[in-house]
Amino acid sequence: MWRFHKDTPRRPYPGHGDGTGLPSPAPLGSEMDIRQIHGQKKQYLDLLLLGDEQEEMIDRYLERGDMFVLHDEGVKAACVVTHEGEGIYELKNIATLPAFQRRGYGRCLIEFLFDRYRALGKAMLVGTGEVPSTMNFYRACGFRPSHRVERFFTENYDHPIYEDGIRLTDMVYMRREF
Ligand SMILES: CC(C)(COP(=O)(O)OP(=O)(O)OC[C@H]1O[C@@H](n2cnc3c(N)ncnc32)[C@H](O)[C@@H]1OP(=O)(O)O)[C@@H](O)C(=O)NCCC(=O)NCCS
Repeated sequence: MWRFHKDTPRRPYPGHGDGTGLPSPAPLGSEMDIRQIHGQKKQYLDLLLLGDEQEEMIDRYLERGDMFVLHDEGVKAACVVTHEGEGIYELKNIATLPAFQRRGYGRCLIEFLFDRYRALGKAMLVGTGEVPSTMNFYRACGFRPSHRVERFFTENYDHPIYEDGIRLTDMVYMRREF
């Protein structure tokens, strides 16, 4: 288990110091930790379906992937990473519970992954639909556009996939070196 120390720098909840006059929000909990899940990964299926809405697609990587769950007074976020060979890791799924998004949990998971795999690999890839909000998240976490797989979503999913009102077609890969 990976536990945040009290002096780990963390961003505050949104609204902090934003001039709104609202009370200063609490920082992410000092008891926040990230745990690797080895068995019964499907118990987190609801969270995984936020990142990849077709269960059959999740089944393609869940068992061979390393799964991590972030707890902060309860489960808040999860991710799955696979090794694709030659030092290339791929973030296959990442999701934060909707009520707790934009509080830094996703970024915490990404930084945790980079700490964990840095000594083992060259780079991490992530494939996403061409949706500005998701691409902004990855960009904010240090990923840059790499390549695309045309028609991935239209050819591999059994129904049209929409995100933020955008129908997904190509898979856009982003990459960050370790
Ligand atoms: C993508 C996702 C995992 C991000 O998790 P999160 O915990 O909300 O992310 P963070 O709070 O750590 O965000 C870090 C930074 O990313 C960027 N970012 C995150 N969400 C964003 C959004 N919706 N729009 C624009 N930028 C965003 C911001 O720069 C943010 O920093 P800021 O809040 O200080 O501005 C979350 O939105 C989610 O679960 N979405 C549904 C599942 C999904 O689409 N997964 C990705 C599949 S490819």
